[in-house]
Amino acid sequence: MAKVKTTFFCQNCGSQYAKWQGQCTSCKAWNTIAEEVIQKPEKSSWKTATSTSASKRASKPLKINEIDTAQEARLDMQDAEFNRVLGGGMVQGSLTLLGGEPGIGKSTLLLQVALRLPYKTLYVSGEESQKQIKMRAERINPKENNCYILTETKTQNIFKQIEDVAPDLVVIDSIQTLHSDYIESSAGSISQIKECTTELIKFAKETATPVLLIGHITKDGHIAGPKILEHMVDTVLQFEGDRNHVFRILRAHKNRFGSTNELGIYEMQGSGLREVSNPSEILISEKDGELSGNAVAATLEGLRPLMIEVQALVSTAVYGTPQRSATGFNAKRLNMLLAVLEKRAGFRLGAKDVFLNITGGITVDDPAIDLAVVAAILSSNEDVALPSDYCFAAEVGLSGEIRPVQRVEQRILEAEKLGFSTIFVSKYNKIALKNTLIKIQLISKIEDVVNFIV
Ligand code: TYD
Ligand code: MG
Repeated sequence: MAKVKTTFFCQNCGSQYAKWQGQCTSCKAWNTIAEEVIQKPEKSSWKTATSTSASKRASKPLKINEIDTAQEARLDMQDAEFNRVLGGGMVQGSLTLLGGEPGIGKSTLLLQVALRLPYKTLYVSGEESQKQIKMRAERINPKENNCYILTETKTQNIFKQIEDVAPDLVVIDSIQTLHSDYIESSAGSISQIKECTTELIKFAKETATPVLLIGHITKDGHIAGPKILEHMVDTVLQFEGDRNHVFRILRAHKNRFGSTNELGIYEMQGSGLREVSNPSEILISEKDGELSGNAVAATLEGLRPLMIEVQALVSTAVYGTPQRSATGFNAKRLNMLLAVLEKRAGFRLGAKDVFLNITGGITVDDPAIDLAVVAAILSSNEDVALPSDYCFAAEVGLSGEIRPVQRVEQRILEAEKLGFSTIFVSKYNKIALKNTLIKIQLISKIEDVVNFIV
């Protein structure tokens, strides 16, 4: 093989170096310089035979109304949650990257999707043997059987098998295990990942076959490899959740064909992942009687309303410095809400430990949860249980004002559907709903909440 010419680039500012060094001299960032291939010995293509076809396929400029979108037909993934996150199914010829912590269920999700599809699918694994995949598949127990399993890591071999099988969907588990003959560096290195992704993009676009890639993430939560991987693919999905909880959330971080606000929820069971179509019911814990420190928030995830339970525990600090801890909620925001309670409502929480937990192991960043957090803290502090059919949807401002939230009507209707008797919302929300069964309690200041609870 001819010698591959490489050079070193700073991944932060793009400066080029002849050899590796610890710090980039131009942007001063440490450890950002990585080796990259600048000249390949041969022209690489997903299929060498078609490399000459590029000129034939060269596209002509078209007016926007002349562009035929019929080919953008989407593949129905037979999974309502997955379809929703993708924006209504998978676009032909698109590349989707699924990232997530190890053991969260990425392989399970994509194998399950591949096994269920009525189309011909090819599941390529560089991580597990065919037997291991079979064992996993047996747990999932699929109905259809159009899925071919291949254990291979060399892209050229994968493309050869693809030509034989002619699948309608290709799943690659994972991009970090692939390697291409055209690059000498080891699998998982920046230049290999880049090269393999480029080959896969070429393949996907030329044959209009959608490709699903699994990507590992680094310990700080980013997809391993160069940032460019995320720029190259059409869609970046993230599969997240707490490994100790059964719920898993599928989110789109980037989507060229749909919104990134949508969310898919799954439950990990002994027999694979189950779609959760009505998440509110399971996120609210079952309990006998009313307990202090619990409050329900009407939040929105994407377009979907979601009722979640907030639990707070306020107790006298045993040690000098009171502890503050929040699971599933921003700790800084918790401190801010505590300061507001202290200053505007006169609660002396400065010497108390405060623990906050969002049940179900999910993380929310909807500001509409603020009021439920305040209510849960007050309820625990006063040791008064809130009626279990109360719920809250409002943001709390720094001066203790209760602020309006977006799409409040949708939240009210969801709360009504689930049998809540009263919802607390901001007085400044414009609500056009009439004759609701649920009582809409309008409040404007934090003191109003205190009057209801204490
Ligand atoms: P896996 O898909 O291998 O994770 P990843 O590919 O993201 O690393 O998921 C592994 C976990 O899922 C494992 O801990 C066992 C669990 N699991 C179930 O609970 N039920 C099942 O049916 C399957 C297949 C896996
Ligand atoms: Mg896996």
